[in-house]
Amino acid sequence: MVSAAAQAGVVAACVVLFVPMGLAGWHLSRNKVLFFSGALFVSLAVGVHLSPYLPSVPHLLATSFFVPGPGAASAAASSSGSSCVPFLHRVSWSDAASAGSSSAGAAANGLGGGTARTWSWPPSLASACGFARLSRDDASLLLNGSWVMVAGDSQARLLVLALLRLLLDPAAAAAAEPELFRRHSDYRAAVPARGISVDFVWAPFESNLTRLLREDLRLAPRVPDVLVLGSGLWHMLHVTDAASYGDALASVAGAAKSLRSPLPVPPPHMFWLGLPHLVNHMLNTDAKRAHMNGTMLRTYDHEVDQRGLVRGDGGPFLLLDVGKLTQGCGQHCTADGMHYDGEVYDAVLHIMLNALVIESQQRI
Ligand SMILES: *[C@@H]1O[C@H](CO)[C@@H](O)[C@H](O)[C@H]1NC(C)=O
Ligand SMILES: *[C@@H]1O[C@H](CO)[C@@H](O)[C@H](O)[C@H]1NC(C)=O
Ligand SMILES: *[C@@H]1O[C@H](CO)[C@@H](O)[C@H](O)[C@H]1NC(C)=O
Repeated sequence: MVSAAAQAGVVAACVVLFVPMGLAGWHLSRNKVLFFSGALFVSLAVGVHLSPYLPSVPHLLATSFFVPGPGAASAAASSSGSSCVPFLHRVSWSDAASAGSSSAGAAANGLGGGTARTWSWPPSLASACGFARLSRDDASLLLNGSWVMVAGDSQARLLVLALLRLLLDPAAAAAAEPELFRRHSDYRAAVPARGISVDFVWAPFESNLTRLLREDLRLAPRVPDVLVLGSGLWHMLHVTDAASYGDALASVAGAAKSLRSPLPVPPPHMFWLGLPHLVNHMLNTDAKRAHMNGTMLRTYDHEVDQRGLVRGDGGPFLLLDVGKLTQGCGQHCTADGMHYDGEVYDAVLHIMLNALVIESQQRI
C-alpha cells in the first residue's frame, strides 16, 4: 500500500517537475530545478508582490479563489493550483528521532529548537500538488519586495518568529527575538537585501483588528502585500461570550472587504490565524482553566466558520487552521496548553507560503 502510494507519488513528481522544467527550467540554477515543482518556480519568478508597473494584471483573487479568470488560459493555469488548496493542511506529524529525511529537512531549516515532533506533507500529495518547504533563498525570492503584516495575539507573534527564522540567518533571528517578545508591543523587521518588511502589530482583541483595517491601513499610502490576522484567546478569557466574538468577527470581515474593494493595486493576500487547540489542565491560571474549556473553544471555532470571515463562508481570509495543526502535533508540543513549539508555527508558515505560491501563480 505504501509502495503503491510512493510509486504514484514518483510518477506525479516526474510530471510536475520535468514538464515545467522543460518549459522554463533553463534560467534556473541546477539546485532550484531539482527542488521546485512547476507551481513553485513559475510563482517565484513573479513573486507575491506585484508592482504598479503591471496595472493590467487581472485581479483573479479580488473576489475569491475559485472564480475563473477572464481568460481561458489563466483559468486553465489556475485550476490545478487552486484545487490543491484544500489539501494544504493535510500534514502528518512524526517523532523527530525516527522521522528520517523529514527531520533532516527541519534541521536544515534551522528550526525546531529541541522540538520532538516534526511535520511533513505526505510525499504523494506534496508531489501531486507541488507543496514544498521553502528554503531561506526561495522564501526571500517569493516575498521579494513585499510587505508582510501580521496582527493579533501571541499566536500571531509566534508566526512572525517562524517567518523571521526562515528569512534571517540564525544569529539575526535569535537577536530579533527579545524585541519581538517585548510584552504587548509592536515589532518591525526588514530584510533589506530583498526589500522585505515584516510588521507585527499587537492586537489581542478583534476591535483592535477592525481599527487597524478601518483606520490605520485605510489611510496608509500603501497596503501590505500579505496580511495575516488572528485573535480570540483574549476574548475567550476576558469576555467569554461566543456570540459577541462572532459579532466582532463579522466587523473584521466587513472591514477587510471594504479595505480591498477600492484599491487601484492588487488587494492583500489575506489569512486568518485560527485558534489553537487548548489543553485545559495545562493552562497556567485558574481563570484560564475556568473560561477556556473545550466547550468554549468549540463555540468560538464555530463563530470563525460562520461569520463571513473565511473563504469557505464567503469571506476574504484563507483560514490557517492552527487548531488542526496544534492538535496534530499533540500535547507534548506545548508547555502551557496554549502556546506550541516552533515546529507548529513553521507548519502554519509553510502552508501560508505554499498558498501564496498558488495565488501568485493565479495572478499572472
Ligand atoms: C526584487 O524586487 C526589486 C524591487 O522591489 C526588484 O528591483 C528586483 O529585481 C527583484 N529581484 C528579483 C530577483 O526578482
Ligand atoms: C485593543 O482594544 C481594547 C478594547 O477595545 C483596548 O482597550 C486596547 O487599548 C486596544 N489595544 C490596542 C493595542 O490597540
Ligand atoms: C466552560 O466555560 C464556560 C465559561 O466559563 C462555563 O460556563 C462552562 O460551564 C464550562 N464548561 C465546562 C464543561 O466546564
